[in-house]
Amino acid sequence: MDLVADRVRSVMTTLEARDAADRIDGTPQVERLRAIRPEVGQLLVTLIVATGARTIVEVGTSSGYSALYLASGARQTGGRVVTFDIDPAKVELAARTFAAAGVDDVVELRHGDGLAGLAAFAGRADLVFIDAEKGDYLGALGPAIEALRPGGLLVADNLTSHEADLAGFRDAALGDGRLVGLVVPIGRGELVAARL
Ligand SMILES: C[S@@+](CC[C@H](N)C(=O)[O-])C[C@H]1O[C@@H](n2cnc3c(N)ncnc32)[C@H](O)[C@@H]1O
Repeated sequence: MDLVADRVRSVMTTLEARDAADRIDGTPQVERLRAIRPEVGQLLVTLIVATGARTIVEVGTSSGYSALYLASGARQTGGRVVTFDIDPAKVELAARTFAAAGVDDVVELRHGDGLAGLAAFAGRADLVFIDAEKGDYLGALGPAIEALRPGGLLVADNLTSHEADLAGFRDAALGDGRLVGLVVPIGRGELVAARL
């Protein structure tokens, strides 16, 4: 069954087209959408439903594309998504995305540093999704683990597309005594780990 509503799917389709164009037309990196692959979105929806995740936190909103998947899962579980982006232009864009998709009731968009924002969740988050700058991942690991409840899930994008850049993060996450997980080779490579 597809949990993504038609109105949400329509916005996703528009963003997918812009993201694909961005990747080949010379758009500067800071302006690009850099969205997750659709199958990663479907993985996120599945994990949310499987675990009944209700408190869902994202670091790196960009256009809001991945948050639309998180919101689709949250609608099913009765949950909410809090998503952080540090770039005001991306926050403006994501606000338009969420309004157009009709998900404002389940998504809270916050302008700011998601690493700092994670501190507010202290053991309450059911799922944390990290998709920010690769240099920030290692610094986000501790705050993300601390934000999760036991049994909560950490998911992080780009583990295979940026394998060398994220090797330190991967090794730290998979070697951390508070987590059990693996890298799932779909999309750009997803670290999926549960908080013990
Ligand atoms: C790869 S894009 C996110 C794509 C998005 N998750 C999606 O799939 O649609 C990375 C985003 O992280 C944001 N970012 C970078 N550092 C951040 C930080 N410390 N806190 C919050 N957002 C950050 C960037 O502004 C950028 O919009």
